Amino acid sequence: MSEPIRLVILGRQGSGKGTQGVRLAEAYDIAHVSTGDMLRAATAAGTPMGLEAKVFMDRGDLLPDDVMQGVVAERLDQDDASTNGFLLDGFPRTVGQAKALADMAPLDLVIDLDVPREMVIERMAARGRVDDTPEAIARRLDLYDEQTRPLLDFYGDQGLLVTVDGVGTEDEVEGRLRAVIDAAHQPS
Ligand code: AP5
Ligand code: MG
Repeated sequence: MSEPIRLVILGRQGSGKGTQGVRLAEAYDIAHVSTGDMLRAATAAGTPMGLEAKVFMDRGDLLPDDVMQGVVAERLDQDDASTNGFLLDGFPRTVGQAKALADMAPLDLVIDLDVPREMVIERMAARGRVDDTPEAIARRLDLYDEQTRPLLDFYGDQGLLVTVDGVGTEDEVEGRLRAVIDAAHQPS
């Protein structure tokens, strides 16, 4: 049996993490762990956590680190993620979350999917999710710069970071992502 592949995808809101996460999970047979998707599912199911999360999400604010760390630790413990590996999309988003993740699982590669701010604003406006209001989009992008961008240095210093150009068609971006993952994860 091959070794699990453990990946993190970072990138601005609207850079295509979710779009590519679905494709890569299929291509490598790994779990696509999207914290945003998990929170939206909890909101739709009406769980207490989901209803509380909705208040943060509608404002474009981050949920507290300890809540997110609990959600992710539980998910990574499930069989699919622990056996085959995972692609984390939307976590970690703060240095605190990244430090907590280090105690949950080793990582093979952290990808920064790079798309300019003006372009992600256009993409999100076209998508129309409930938290894609101009105010919430601006708030999310500001928080990205303040809280998540420092992770590029955090993982860069560990030699785990690769930047991938996220501008192009979905197929072109997928090809670039697969090339860096294959280079980092040669079957032995
Ligand atoms: P989350 O769901 O993660 O939202 P986000 O960070 O705002 O990121 P998006 O999902 O908007 O962007 P994406 O990169 O996935 O882009 P997508 O593929 O959709 O989080 C939502 C909220 O949950 C947060 O605001 C927070 O409140 C909370 N939360 C989640 N995780 C948390 C954490 N760890 N800590 C604290 N709080 C947390 O693409 C965008 C659009 O572009 C789509 O319409 C797509 O079709 C299009 N597109 C994609 N690729 C291309 C391409 N190559 N060319 C043209 N269009 C493209
Ligand atoms: Mg997403």
